[in-house]
Amino acid sequence: MTLKIAVSNQKGGAGKTTTAINTAGALAARGHDVLGVDLDPQGHFTEGVGYPEAYDEDADSLYEALLDITRSELINDLVHEHEEFDVITSHIDMFKLEGELTTARRREERLSMAFDALEHEYDYIIIDCPPNLGPLTDNALLASRNVIIPAPTRSTAMRALEILFDQIEILEETYDVDIRQLAVVANEVTQDSEADEMLEWFRNLFGEAVPVFEVRKRVALQRAWNSGVSIFAHDEECDMEAVYDDLAAHLEEVAAR
Ligand SMILES: Nc1ncnc2c1ncn2[C@@H]1O[C@H](COP(=O)(O)OP(=O)(O)O)[C@@H](O)[C@H]1O
Ligand SMILES: [Mg+2]
Repeated sequence: MTLKIAVSNQKGGAGKTTTAINTAGALAARGHDVLGVDLDPQGHFTEGVGYPEAYDEDADSLYEALLDITRSELINDLVHEHEEFDVITSHIDMFKLEGELTTARRREERLSMAFDALEHEYDYIIIDCPPNLGPLTDNALLASRNVIIPAPTRSTAMRALEILFDQIEILEETYDVDIRQLAVVANEVTQDSEADEMLEWFRNLFGEAVPVFEVRKRVALQRAWNSGVSIFAHDEECDMEAVYDDLAAHLEEVAAR
């Protein structure tokens, strides 16, 4: 069984891509077979794991695999073998897809269909979502049925989470599915009272079943990104490895349930 997880928060700069890359890296470092999927048309994950050229190359991409339901099998040809985990990159054409899917039939199920066509069975699939609640995020939530929510420890995060919960509820009702919240990653946690209050708010909101992992601001995270790897494959010690490793251990527990 593959545990598929969407990393989602419609706010930009919430830490989605950083969380996706380093969670995939942590799981891979624990010996798991992991696939990272960049569903954001901006292609930040694609860049952050070292495939900037794939983003605008003149070839079939995730765009074609999701646009044309007769071509789901194409997904097998899109896998890059990164040194830590496999990667399906985004493509600049994905910007068009958001509009094109709006009126298409089964528009929220395209990624599920593509995953069904995957020949390789991964232990974990981590999906980096775009910064909006459009059809691509719906695809990620429906294909995975699991979500990790990164959020900054600032009060503006509260409203964003409420809107995300509403969207998850709509999908659950429309498709009669359960979308589980697996973890919160409080990102760029600072040492001040606003951060403390937000951490408290997260803990009350999510309860004990959904742990809150605290990631601080570290230049090592950015330097690893610039080198095309997670902090686990980067030749620099970073104290946040322990946090992502705890998150990976939690995901192992979820997978074993
Ligand atoms: N904990 C962190 N420490 C240092 N830089 C970070 C951290 N989290 C995110 N960043 C940086 O902040 C920017 C936004 O983060 P990102 O993960 O891209 O958010 P999102 O994907 O939600 O838009 C990126 O440039 C990223 O490198
Ligand atoms: Mg991002």
